[in-house]
Amino acid sequence: MSFLANGKILVIGSVNMDLVMRMARAPQIGETVTADTFHTFPGGKGGNQAVTASRLGASVTMLTVLGRDAFSEELVASLRKNAVDTDSIEREPEGCAGIAMIFVDGTGNNAIAFTPGSNAHFSKHHLKRCEPLFEEGKILLITLEMPHETIYESIFLAKRKGMFVIFDPAPADPTLFEKYPDLAAAIDILKPNETEASLMTGQRIRTLEEASQALFTLSERGIGRPIITLGNKGAVTLIDGNPYFSPAYPVSTVDTTAAGDVFSGALAACLAKNKPFVESLRFAGASAGLSATRQGAQSSIPSLEEVARFLETH
Ligand code: RIB
Repeated sequence: MSFLANGKILVIGSVNMDLVMRMARAPQIGETVTADTFHTFPGGKGGNQAVTASRLGASVTMLTVLGRDAFSEELVASLRKNAVDTDSIEREPEGCAGIAMIFVDGTGNNAIAFTPGSNAHFSKHHLKRCEPLFEEGKILLITLEMPHETIYESIFLAKRKGMFVIFDPAPADPTLFEKYPDLAAAIDILKPNETEASLMTGQRIRTLEEASQALFTLSERGIGRPIITLGNKGAVTLIDGNPYFSPAYPVSTVDTTAAGDVFSGALAACLAKNKPFVESLRFAGASAGLSATRQGAQSSIPSLEEVARFLETH
């Protein structure tokens, strides 16, 4: 990576309140099941990434739109408690926080339904007001639970200002790249999971070889460096044009919610400190693995000390 990072990260993405039920098995359409527990956890892909990067040592500013409802207040408080700069989050007087309804089953896997609330109102005007936050040396970390136009404009603004762009295209929606074919070439790191990568490339991904083929397809489209995460198997990327596999750490999975966000936030935190790419991948894998051993989204994010200790013993 020829980019010289200054330790700062700008996160653009959703901040949601997660309403989480745990049950042996998620209901099918037309079926009612009794859940074992219900909790609320601060979440949202952007919020989870911001808290991760901050807990892991980066200086983080969060951009999103929230309301003035009780959930929005709680979400801003959670970001602040984790030393994330929330001063430029827009607050709509009549708006509301995004909400995610999450069912976590006995294997720790989940099904999520999400409504963006005020997150959906991130406008070009708000981006214009935030332009001074786009500075050379910073990393832009951005996800898909935002209006497409905002994602597109933010990525190109970041490139014009000399920033490094990490795009986590979750949740899966390949229409963004169909709408903006020039976007791929502006992305330094693209980090889909296997489902997202499969939708983006139209290729089946069930093996490492198939994941490597998808990486080549993404690279041919102009993406600087694609990384495909493969759940509890690990992650695969291209180094000097060759597939490179970073295996996952074995953990006892309790809840996989936010593991992908933690991977991206941890990767960004490491790269913001100018750590080598392969070391950053290992660090991201360890952080994501640790988060899967705990319940909830932001509640599951490890500290820098915990990740360091985990890496020493694994
Ligand atoms: O990636 C997990 C997140 O997705 C949850 O925290 C939920 O808010 C949804 O955005």
